Amino acid sequence: MLMRRVVRLTDFGSPDVLTIAREELPPPIAGEVRVRQTAIGFNFIDIYQRKGIYQLPLPSGLGFEAAGFVDAIGSGVMNIQIGERVAYMNAGVGAYADFRNVPADKLVRLPDMVSDEAAATLLFKGMTAQYLLRKTHAVQPGDLLLVHSAAGGVGQILTRWATAIGATVIGTTGSPRKRDAALAAGCVDVIDLNDPEWPDAFLAASGGRKARVVYDAVGKDTLIKSLDCAAPFGLVVCYGASSGKAPAVDPERLNKKGCLFLTRPSVFPHNADPATFRANAADLFEAIAKGHVSVDIGGRFKLDNVLEAHVAAEERRFGGALLISP
Ligand SMILES: NC(=O)c1ccc[n+]([C@@H]2O[C@H](COP(=O)([O-])OP(=O)(O)OC[C@H]3O[C@@H](n4cnc5c(N)ncnc54)[C@H](OP(=O)(O)O)[C@@H]3O)[C@@H](O)[C@H]2O)c1
Repeated sequence: MLMRRVVRLTDFGSPDVLTIAREELPPPIAGEVRVRQTAIGFNFIDIYQRKGIYQLPLPSGLGFEAAGFVDAIGSGVMNIQIGERVAYMNAGVGAYADFRNVPADKLVRLPDMVSDEAAATLLFKGMTAQYLLRKTHAVQPGDLLLVHSAAGGVGQILTRWATAIGATVIGTTGSPRKRDAALAAGCVDVIDLNDPEWPDAFLAASGGRKARVVYDAVGKDTLIKSLDCAAPFGLVVCYGASSGKAPAVDPERLNKKGCLFLTRPSVFPHNADPATFRANAADLFEAIAKGHVSVDIGGRFKLDNVLEAHVAAEERRFGGALLISP
C-alpha cells in the first residue's frame, strides 16, 4: 500500500492545530482515481474550516483544490488514462496531501496551456469568479462594479475577467501597498478600506455613480457600507466573510437604499452536477487562453510548512493566490 503525507485537523483553532501525518492510502475504489498531486491551492475557506467557523467532522483533512496527474485508476472509470494531467476543486476536503483518491467525475483534464501551478491557483477561485459574473449577475459591458479585496485571489480574477467583458471595476484593498496589484488587475481606481468614509471615496472615484453590483467577500467590516455603494435596483453579493460573519440585514434597509437585491451565493451548488462543472471549467479555461484570467502567485509554501500559509493569509501579508507544493 502507498504511504502518503497528509495534513490532519484534529481540533479547531490557530494554524498550529494543523499536523502532518504519514499514513497508508488504500488503492482507489470503483469510480475513483488516485492523483499524484504536484500543486495544491490555498483558499480562504480553508481558514474558516480550520477555525471551526464552518464546522467539519473531526478528525478531518483540509483543502479543496489541487492539480497533478493520474497515478492509478479504480474499476469502472472510463475515459481517463494513467499519466493524464487533472485538477479538482469540489471533491470535499483533503487536498492538502501528496497523493489523494478522488471521484473521477470531480476531475477536469487540464489543457496544455494551463500548468499544474496555474490550475491549483485558478480553479477554485476562477470557478468562483465564473459564477459570480455569469450567473449571480450576467456582467455586461458598461456595468460599474465595486470589487472588494481586488488584490486578493478571487478579487484579481474577478476584476480581470469583468474588465475583459467591458465592465468598469473600482476595487478596494485593506492596505495601500496592495493598490498596484489591484490596478494591474484592471481596476480604474482603488479605494483604501482604512478610510472610514470609504463609500464617499468610492463615489468620488466613480463621479457620483453607484455600482450595478457590489462584490463583497469581506463581510463583517464592509457589508452595511457596501449597501450605500449600490445603485437603485442594484445587487450586493455577500460571498465571503474574510473579516468575520456579515451582520444580519433588515429587508426594510434594502427598500430604503433603493430596492436593492442582496444574495449570499456559493461556488459548490453552481458546480455540483459533473456536466455543469465541466462546462464551467471549459468557460474558465477559454478565458485563461484568451488572457482574460490570471492571478499573481503571492506566496509559495511547502506542504510540511502549510501552517505558514495560514498565518500569512490571516495577516493579509500577500496579494494574489498562495500555492502549496507537496
Ligand atoms: N462564496 C463563494 O463561492 C466563495 C468561493 C471562494 C472564495 N470565497 C470568498 O472570497 C474571499 C476571497 O477568497 P480568496 O481565497 O481569494 O482570499 P484572498 O482574497 O486572497 O484573501 C482574503 C482577503 O480578504 C481581505 N480581508 C479583509 N479583512 C480581512 C481580515 N480581517 N483578515 C484577513 N483578510 C481580510 C484581505 O484583503 P485586503 O488586505 O486587501 O483587505 C485578504 O487578502 C474570501 O472571503 C472567501 O471566503 C467565496
